[in-house]
Amino acid sequence: MKFDILTIFPEFFTEVFDFGIIRRAKLAEIVEINVHDLRKWALDKHHKTDDRPFGGGEGMVMKCEPVFLAIEELLGTSERKNYPPKTKVVLLTPQGKPLKQAVAQEFADGKERIVLICGRYEGIDERVTEALVTDEISIGDYVLSGGEPAAIVLVDAITRLLPDALGNEQSAEKDSFSDGLLDFPQYTQPRDFRGMKVPEVLLSGNHAEIDKWREEKALEKTKEVRKDLLEGVDSE
Ligand code: ADE
Repeated sequence: MKFDILTIFPEFFTEVFDFGIIRRAKLAEIVEINVHDLRKWALDKHHKTDDRPFGGGEGMVMKCEPVFLAIEELLGTSERKNYPPKTKVVLLTPQGKPLKQAVAQEFADGKERIVLICGRYEGIDERVTEALVTDEISIGDYVLSGGEPAAIVLVDAITRLLPDALGNEQSAEKDSFSDGLLDFPQYTQPRDFRGMKVPEVLLSGNHAEIDKWREEKALEKTKEVRKDLLEGVDSE
């Protein structure tokens, strides 16, 4: 999978992909992550990527031309229907479709290239969305100062779902959300920390009992903090 991130703050991404699973996936060539400075495609002498909104109003709007030029250089065309196969152009925006595990899975399945456009300012010229973008994604119902943190979240969520990105000892199938529930609690050494003891069942070696306990705890936690996840799930 190849990711191309378009941003006016390329330094934002320095080192962020150099740890843990993403670092390993890069070294194993499961992913390639390229960060591009949008100013490179801002052709005026000040490399301006934003301007005042037509119709008036607060703030600045990201200009469309640098984004069109960037997409043309990266994908060979700004005609969405002529994009290379298995290619997506994603705009990170609070106006997008909410990112869920199933959405990340869809991106991970069978795509080869994802271009991420990090919006900034008060928004981005609508012609980018109309002509170039295949998917608008929001990482939650709150407003960030820009799409950069959201791009990091999306790259991370997708990368760990790519074949072989997780070691054998880990499995994305066991992640929270993959079965519609939050994760059960985990414990490691020591068995007794300042009087706080690891639940007996986990020390019992009885795997049927352990699985049952974990299922109960996952359900309990989900009921407590994310009742919405249980809607539509059969309760026995
Ligand atoms: N840009 C600003 N806020 C955002 C959000 N919640 N998700 C994605 N991109 C954003």
